[in-house]
Amino acid sequence: MSATLPRKLFVTAALPYANAPFHIGHIMEYIQADIWVRFQRMQGHEVDFVCADDAHGTPIMIAAEKAGVTPQEFVARIAAGRKQHLDGFHISFDNWHSTDSPENTELSQAIYRRLRDDAKLITTKTVERFYDPVKGMFLADRNIKGECPKCGAKDQYGDNCEVCGAAYEPTELKNPYSALTGATPVMKPVEQYFFKLSDPRCVAFLQDWLNTPGRLQPEMVNKVSEWLGNDGKDLADWDISREAPYFGIPIPDAPGKYFYVWLDAPVGYLASLKNYCSKKGIDYEALLNDPATEQIHFIGKDIVSFHLLFWPAMLKFSGHPVIDKLKVYVHGHLTVSGEKMSKSRGTGISPLRYLEIGMNPEWLRYYIASKLNAKVEDLDFNPEDFVARVNSDLIGKYINIASRAAGFITKRFDGKVVTDWATASDTFISNLRNVAPEIHAMYDHREFGKALRAVMEQADHINAYVDANKPWELAKNPGKDAALQEVCSRLLEAFRVLTIYLKPVLPELARQVEALLNIEPLLWSQVGTPLPHGHKVNPYTHLMTRVDAKMLDALFDAPIDATATPPSQPSPSQGEGADGGTIEELAPEIKIDDFTRIDLRIAKIVNCEQVDGSDKLLRLTLDVGEGRMRNVFSGIKSAYQPEELIGKLTVMVANLAPRKMKFGVSEGMVLAASASDERAKPGIYILNPWPGAEPGMRIR
Ligand code: MSP
Ligand code: ZN
Repeated sequence: MSATLPRKLFVTAALPYANAPFHIGHIMEYIQADIWVRFQRMQGHEVDFVCADDAHGTPIMIAAEKAGVTPQEFVARIAAGRKQHLDGFHISFDNWHSTDSPENTELSQAIYRRLRDDAKLITTKTVERFYDPVKGMFLADRNIKGECPKCGAKDQYGDNCEVCGAAYEPTELKNPYSALTGATPVMKPVEQYFFKLSDPRCVAFLQDWLNTPGRLQPEMVNKVSEWLGNDGKDLADWDISREAPYFGIPIPDAPGKYFYVWLDAPVGYLASLKNYCSKKGIDYEALLNDPATEQIHFIGKDIVSFHLLFWPAMLKFSGHPVIDKLKVYVHGHLTVSGEKMSKSRGTGISPLRYLEIGMNPEWLRYYIASKLNAKVEDLDFNPEDFVARVNSDLIGKYINIASRAAGFITKRFDGKVVTDWATASDTFISNLRNVAPEIHAMYDHREFGKALRAVMEQADHINAYVDANKPWELAKNPGKDAALQEVCSRLLEAFRVLTIYLKPVLPELARQVEALLNIEPLLWSQVGTPLPHGHKVNPYTHLMTRVDAKMLDALFDAPIDATATPPSQPSPSQGEGADGGTIEELAPEIKIDDFTRIDLRIAKIVNCEQVDGSDKLLRLTLDVGEGRMRNVFSGIKSAYQPEELIGKLTVMVANLAPRKMKFGVSEGMVLAASASDERAKPGIYILNPWPGAEPGMRIR
């Protein structure tokens, strides 16, 4: 462990599309990468861990247009929300950049020139593409809709059918129409630029690259081999150009043509690194050309073809120095209670909401880590399982060790620990130290779940020691002072070693433990270096609370106001309700029982006031006849002056779990009507009962 030279690691996670705030799947990927990075840093390795917004492409261009802003402004708004998430979950990127940047333009164009001029791997072909005659632009697959050629389902995208799952070319759709204007698209010939992936040099390189032992996960070797087919016969050339108007990087010497977003997106990894280097005064070229430098990308299973075919081939034939040390670590997807995440079904978890309701980010880091391995397997977020793992393992087994020992050391021994017992022959400590190489290997190989199980097994032994030695009993007997001090010191030393093992997963907790133990930041190499004999620790302060299962209910509630949802995005299905044609689609049918679970009551607005620092909320004091008042926040500030509401009756959901918000706890929700597209038809209307209704009456 110690004699090896420091590694030089250039690590990235996939660049998220800048069309929406992070979802919990992104956070999962970052947590995985961050744990690995922190582990490597703890070994003394040098790590540059960078990421960026993936800014280009048609969807973002169209979304910006709908929102009435430039694509640059649109992307900047999304980018502005990144830091809050990253800091919130302790994700330690060294740099966050954008693919819409000078570095990325320069690097993408330089790579392209080398592929074209040196490797001769760029070619042009004239192909027929769908064109929207009304909008005057070529259409991306996702902007063409029509009937599925296989099952006939209506309104399916140009690349695949969401009803039967079939994949096809947009030209195969029946009755195609432009999703942008509704016009019938016409076929128009256009000259496109291709990267010659089918070239025998690319095929030979890819075969060699992917079969290098230890480079790829076995399931990925199989997958890519399948794509390559026999001698690469199944590989097609890759269309890398798009026509203006396009939000992207111009192709050199090709007026009106832009790189397809997936060409410049992975170059964004290098652009962010370069940007970081210039901020830090590091020589970018020298770093890449250092034979020690390794390049590692963490990505999800849905973007494998881009990272395991196109990207390595692009790097190889443009002369990228790190190609032999390029690795791609692929993970499966996070599901929620066994289902694919979906906002509309309420199975998505908003990462911001997680933080807003006061859930500890390290609970999530621990839980996700406990479920991660090196395979390309999906992992599930299950609320009950989450509560159990955090409360019984993290708190019950690990945190409790400190809480049982530290108090006595402070109160009875002036904070001083004894460690003269901690010799190599002492089995209590040597057993705990001896698992370090094993846990080290597990982290290094991304077997985080195994690593945490190994740590918890050690915690079990330590807890058995507590039960056998009962410090609380020793404390009752003044003659047993020395024994008490030794038992508690052993526990604190064990806790210190466990903290080293958990630090990649729980960085903030480790920081608190370092403060408690009154020591410098822990390194992996300090497993065998106990606290000095007679070292003074600081008084114990509470390290971590248990999860309250009620919080999980709050996590899954539908958002009650605009501030609870992530920065609002133009949603693709809006527009219809706006001009009076049709209304928002009805929710799925329910049974009367489903309805009666919701307790609606008449409430009297006893008081109403502005909320300092919020431009959306009013604070309502509501009387529902319970003999106490309820505090409720409602996103209706744009529609009402507080004075006009005081004294009025309205309708509230009275049995909603209380929700902790930035400005306080909200104990229910006031009902209000609004159009599906608030941008097109603004206005929020609360309800007012007919005269005679009284506070507390149920609405059924
Ligand atoms: N912009 C591209 C990546 C370009 S990389 C040069 C993209 N963006 S994305 O926002 O759709 O996804 C970013 C990452 O999040 C991908 O690695 C993707 O696999 C990952 N995830 C998306 N949904 C996920 C889960 N449900 N669970 C875990 N990771 C998920 O693709
Ligand atoms: Zn179909």
